[in-house]
Amino acid sequence: MRFLALKRGADEWVCEYIVGKINAFAPSAERPFVLGLPTGGTPLAVYQRLIEAYRQGRVSFKYVVTINMDEYLGLGAEHPQSYRYFMQENFFKWVDILPENTHIPDGLAEDVEAEAKRYEQLIADLGGVQLFFGGVGSDGHVAFNEAGSSLGSRTRVKTLTRQTLADNARFFDSMEEVPKYALTVGIETIMQAREVLILAKGLAKALAVEQAVEGAVNALWPITRFQCHERFILVCDEAAAGELKFKTLRYFASTEGQINPQLREDLLCYSED
Ligand code: PGA
Repeated sequence: MRFLALKRGADEWVCEYIVGKINAFAPSAERPFVLGLPTGGTPLAVYQRLIEAYRQGRVSFKYVVTINMDEYLGLGAEHPQSYRYFMQENFFKWVDILPENTHIPDGLAEDVEAEAKRYEQLIADLGGVQLFFGGVGSDGHVAFNEAGSSLGSRTRVKTLTRQTLADNARFFDSMEEVPKYALTVGIETIMQAREVLILAKGLAKALAVEQAVEGAVNALWPITRFQCHERFILVCDEAAAGELKFKTLRYFASTEGQINPQLREDLLCYSED
């Protein structure tokens, strides 16, 4: 795994990484770049930076196809708390992505199992996801793969934990209004992506980051599964790195500092000796 704990600039680093990947791929109508995307508080600043990069002419989403991680069951595109609405308002409507190239599980699907199968098939038909960008929950969930989720899971319906309901209640008028179920890609669905990039910010994510970096792979912390991914990048800010051992931080900072000398000042616990 590649791990960056940054004193500053985590959002910027993630944005530039995504821009660099899209541009290096040189996508076309016949060969689009397939990008996995999250919702939530964490990616907002990244989306703002990606929009800015688009405005500056540094990236185009014309030949990018997006696969969102999840959607609440029972919420349609018009519902302000649906993830389709979130993506529309916070990202899609500001860039040149084609609406037909934006994919999110259908929260209103009558046959949820068929919808889950369709979503997996869609990803397969697209040739797989090039880069899956995501956040992590305070309990280590990724997408809506809650603690205890199968580490070999595919797209399906998940019951949300009380912790997730509580974390997400801030977006609703009351906890009772938070949907109790969601359609989500599985851990294995994300594992199949060429690369997985997870961003964690703030003290609330510190235990999840600790498990992801120092913990053993186990279903109670689904993020730990990505330790087994060939190309897993975890980026966090100083607060989210707060539970890690000093020597862990030094180890990853020294490796990263060798690859990226210009990043040394921003790496937490980087030192020359
Ligand atoms: P957050 O959620 O970005 O709003 O903290 C992350 C997650 O639950 O995956």
